[in-house]
Amino acid sequence: MTLGIIGAMVEEITPLLERFGDYETKQVGGNNYYEIKKGKHRIYVAYSKIGKVHAALTASTMILHFGCEKIIFSGVAGGLSTDLKVGDLVLGTKLCQYDVDITAFGHPLGFIPESKVFIESDSALNAVASDIAKAQGIKLKQGIIASGDAFIADSAKKQWIITHFGADAVEMEGAAVAVVCDLLKVPFCILRSISDSADGSADVSFDEFLESSAKRSADFVIMMCEQILK
Ligand code: ADE
Repeated sequence: MTLGIIGAMVEEITPLLERFGDYETKQVGGNNYYEIKKGKHRIYVAYSKIGKVHAALTASTMILHFGCEKIIFSGVAGGLSTDLKVGDLVLGTKLCQYDVDITAFGHPLGFIPESKVFIESDSALNAVASDIAKAQGIKLKQGIIASGDAFIADSAKKQWIITHFGADAVEMEGAAVAVVCDLLKVPFCILRSISDSADGSADVSFDEFLESSAKRSADFVIMMCEQILK
């Protein structure tokens, strides 16, 4: 099995690399890909840099260049749902791009012709996550994650995303990974830990909780890897 784990920022993958130990570094397209050998298995870990374009490049590289057969995204998100607090884990069962708007031509918000508004993540990977959460007594919310190329730090924008997409969390990469994996037929899942509430205090909260929330997500992903590669 060859597994890919993507974060957006270095803080999101550092806890993974610290836990996995030995790795070899490969460079493609301006990013480092860290190759970890676990018996007959390979794990590639990389941070993409922020945003949908970078995440799409990293997911594509992991699949087409390194042969990853499953992709897991680990990182932080802004909480939209009232039952998500800083540190909580959210698993994106559906991903959408809230910043896609070709409504001028009569299309629904978030829709691109020949694609779809919501892309579903892999039910088997999501089941691995929910089984671990249950066994460990960890709260794991399953819900819609909305992605776009903006850091949301405004209550009105936050409400707009909730109203139009019913989203539970917002971030800047998940839907891009979803598009790539869906088109290339590679199972994927998107796990996030909440760093802020996407409102007026989001920037301060993000700075304060980036590291601890990124680690919560990474620690959970390590348990998923152990299960998947068993
Ligand atoms: N990632 C973490 N918090 C976020 C926010 N408020 N908006 C977009 N991406 C985020």
